[in-house]
Amino acid sequence: MRENKILTAEEMAEQEVYVARMRSANQAFAAQSGASRRAFVLTFGCQQNEADSEKIAGLCEAMGYEITYAPEDADLIMVNTCAIREHAEQKALSIVGQYKHLKAKKPTLVIGVCGCMVTQEHRKDEIKHRYPYVDLVFGTSSLHRFPRLLCEKLERGKRLFCPEESEYLVAEGLPIRRESSYRAWVSIMYGCNNFCSYCIVPYVRGRERSRAPEAIIREVEELVARGYRDITLLGQNVNSYGKDLTERFDFADLLAALDRIDGDHRIRFMTSHPKDASRKLIDVMASSRHIAHQFHLPMQSGSDAILCAMNRHYDTARYLEIVDYLRERIPDITITSDIIVGFPGETEADFQSTLDMLARVRFDMLYSFIYSPRKGTPAAEMEQVDPAVKSERFSRLLAVQNEIAVERNQPLIGKTLRVLCDGVSKNNPALYSGRTEGNKIAFFEGTPEDTGRYIEMIPERVDAFALYGTKK
Ligand code: 5AD
Ligand code: SF4
Repeated sequence: MRENKILTAEEMAEQEVYVARMRSANQAFAAQSGASRRAFVLTFGCQQNEADSEKIAGLCEAMGYEITYAPEDADLIMVNTCAIREHAEQKALSIVGQYKHLKAKKPTLVIGVCGCMVTQEHRKDEIKHRYPYVDLVFGTSSLHRFPRLLCEKLERGKRLFCPEESEYLVAEGLPIRRESSYRAWVSIMYGCNNFCSYCIVPYVRGRERSRAPEAIIREVEELVARGYRDITLLGQNVNSYGKDLTERFDFADLLAALDRIDGDHRIRFMTSHPKDASRKLIDVMASSRHIAHQFHLPMQSGSDAILCAMNRHYDTARYLEIVDYLRERIPDITITSDIIVGFPGETEADFQSTLDMLARVRFDMLYSFIYSPRKGTPAAEMEQVDPAVKSERFSRLLAVQNEIAVERNQPLIGKTLRVLCDGVSKNNPALYSGRTEGNKIAFFEGTPEDTGRYIEMIPERVDAFALYGTKK
């Protein structure tokens, strides 16, 4: 075991050799054929995966691929998968299934599958046997080895299934091709030590490891200097940032240091674990200049018995203490949460306790999920709730939350809000959309110049999911 969990410069330099080899091969191809080879990167799952995909795309570009958004034009397709719920895995497998005909049309197409789903041995085997046209498979521990794996696959011409590394490490300095020029993800730590009994993440992303504070501060400084307006710090449990560092430097210290960077930007973070959310952190937020008044604090359940079975290490009283302190120190805070419905053993009374907590806390928004058994986790072995009961509870939860969300949004009507504009709305092309400080979605009539800029808008109407108004 190494003292810190950072890959050495030599280990990272090893990949450079393969990047250079791929780049010359791709340049030679472009010179001969008059067109660059193209890569398509498809992402499933969470923001951490989106951030990883920006590194995959960055490496593709460094290797001389042009990035395309059309899989049928691609010479290389990389599918970055998620394992959090069965549905996410089935979606990824179904898309990989659809790429079979692309490979039939273009036999030189290289198809790679990476990320959380294929970090699990049983899924790796499934791809090996049921998707024979997939060329390259590697899990989350090998992301930084992508250039070498791709190069070996192409030079040997054989399918390549990379075994997982014995240790999960931090790779600094990978190129990042950011999807946006004004919103950015910054991973501050990787992995998770919590082993919530329903969750696959600790098995597919390894133990917690924090990036060095200097590396994070430098990255955020560079982003702000380049005009980024909204920066989200990412980790499975950002509140335990720094526990593995040799010097004492926790998440609140990191936020305080980042808040000292001058500029016109907001900093957000996700995800927080209630057992580690400290008063010190809330105090730093309250007195900050740039930390958005938004807190995503997954509660998962409002029943103490279920929280215990989930191995969450807090109860509802502790959860309420954090919420109350957040609202005391930051009265305009937006609080959002994750809830799992139908965890094994959840009774009607347990579920009712969750509804009671929703009424007590009054979340601005909720991400709710039906419990999905994950192979290898303790909860998958427990007695399951009937699927019909799960979906009936899920609908009831949504109905209760929708009413609360509307009530939470209503007081914003008539107020002036600063919104970072994302351009023409995809779902509502007559309007522009953007995000408030609380990360609420706002719709308004905008102009192309608004994209990537802060505008001021006044909501005139709200629903559970968004604010609708006019630009000031
Ligand atoms: N089933 C349903 N939801 C899950 N989550 C994590 N694991 C599962 C599972 N097995 C939810 C949790 C977590 C969010 C990212 O996904 O609510 O906070
Ligand atoms: Fe999963 Fe719990 Fe870790 Fe979140 S804190 S990634 S829910 S194990």
